[in-house]
Amino acid sequence: MTRLLIRACRREPVERTPIWLMRQAGRYMSVYRAVRERHGFLQMVKQPDVAAEVTLQPIEAFGMDAAIIFADILPPLEGLGLQLTFEKGEGPVIHNPIRVPADIAALRPYEPEAVSGYTLEALRIVRAALPETTALFGFSGAPFTLASYAIEGGGSREYRRTKLMMYRDPASWQTLMTKLTDLVVAYLIAQAHAGADVVQIFDSWAGALSPDDFAEYVLPYVQRAVAETRAATGVPIVYFGTDMNGMLPLLRATGADVLGLDWRIRLADGWAQYGYDVAVQGNLDPTTLHAPWPEIERRAKAILDQAAGRPGHIFNVGHGIITETPEEHVARLVEFVQNYRYAGEA
Ligand code: CP3
Repeated sequence: MTRLLIRACRREPVERTPIWLMRQAGRYMSVYRAVRERHGFLQMVKQPDVAAEVTLQPIEAFGMDAAIIFADILPPLEGLGLQLTFEKGEGPVIHNPIRVPADIAALRPYEPEAVSGYTLEALRIVRAALPETTALFGFSGAPFTLASYAIEGGGSREYRRTKLMMYRDPASWQTLMTKLTDLVVAYLIAQAHAGADVVQIFDSWAGALSPDDFAEYVLPYVQRAVAETRAATGVPIVYFGTDMNGMLPLLRATGADVLGLDWRIRLADGWAQYGYDVAVQGNLDPTTLHAPWPEIERRAKAILDQAAGRPGHIFNVGHGIITETPEEHVARLVEFVQNYRYAGEA
C-alpha cells in the first residue's frame, strides 16, 4: 500500500487531494499549549515521547493526511558546535555565530544519531502510532536558511552578514555551505531510515536573494542535497521557500519531487511555470484561516479548482499556520479539502 500523500508526491492518480499544514502542531492548539506550559520548546523537541505526543495531536484532532515530526530546523546545528536557545518573544538565538573563517574551520562534523537521536526516536514512536494511511514527514533546514541563522545569530531582515560573506569571501561561503549540505543529507537520510516516508527541505528565507545569487551561491548545494538524499533513500523530497516567485524555474532546477508555492502567486500560474511534470504544494494564505468560514471555503475551493484535478497537488498553507488560528477553522478546512472532488471547468 502506498499512502495517498506519497502517491500525490509522485504524481500518481489519487482519489482526492491530500492535505497537511505547515506548523500544524503548535500554539494554536489548546492541547499543545497545555504541554508547552510544562516544558520549554527545546525540551519538548528533545524528549522523544513529548515530541511524539505533540506530533500526533493535529492528526488525532483533524486527521490530516500527513504528520510532520515535531522538531525544528536549528537544533542539528548544535552538533556543529553552535549554542542555541529559544528566547521568549525573540525566537531562536545562536550565541556563538559564525563570523570569521576560523569559526567555519572549527565546526565539528554532524553525526545524526549522536546529535539528533531524540528526533530519530520520536519518528520511530510516531510511525508506530500513526494510522497506516497517514504519511510521516521528516525535514531539515536548507543550507542557505541554516547558514543565515548560523551567521546572523538569529532571525534577520536584511541578511547583511550572510550576503557579505557570499560577496566578500566566496571561498568561506563554499566551505560553510558544503558542511551544511553534508548535514542536511545525513540528517534527511537518518530520518528516512527512522520512518519518515517523505522529507521537506525548508529554505524559508532564500527569497531574500536575487535570482542570480540564488543560482550561483545556493542552488548547487540544494541540488546536491536532493540528489544524494534521493539516491540513498528513494523517499519523495519537497523543497519549500517563500517569496521566490521571480525565480520559479530555479526552484524547478533543484530536482525536488514537490515544489512549494506561497500565496503571492496564483497556484495555476506557479504550477504552469514549474511545469506539470513536477508536483506542487500549497498555497492558502495562512491568515485566511482567521476569516469567517465561507471566505475560507471560497479560497480553498479556488485553489483546488486551479489545480484542476491534475495529479500532483498537495494542499497546504503557503507558510506556517499562525498562532491565533481558530482550531474549528482548521478542522473544517481539512474536512472540506478531503471531501472536495474537482468537477471540471464550470
Ligand atoms: O510544521 C510543524 O508543525 C513541525 C514543526 C516545526 C517547527 N519549526 C516547530 C516550531 C517545523 C517544520 C519548523 C521549521 C522551522 N523552524 C523553520 C522553517 C519553516 C518556517 O516557518 O519558515 C524556521 C525558520 C524555524 C526557526 C524557528 N523556530 C523560529 C524562527 C521560531 C520562533 C518563531 C515562533 O513561531 O515562535 C521557532 C520556534 C518554533 N518551532 C515553534 C514551533 C512549534 C514555536 C515554539 C513555541 O511553542 O514557543
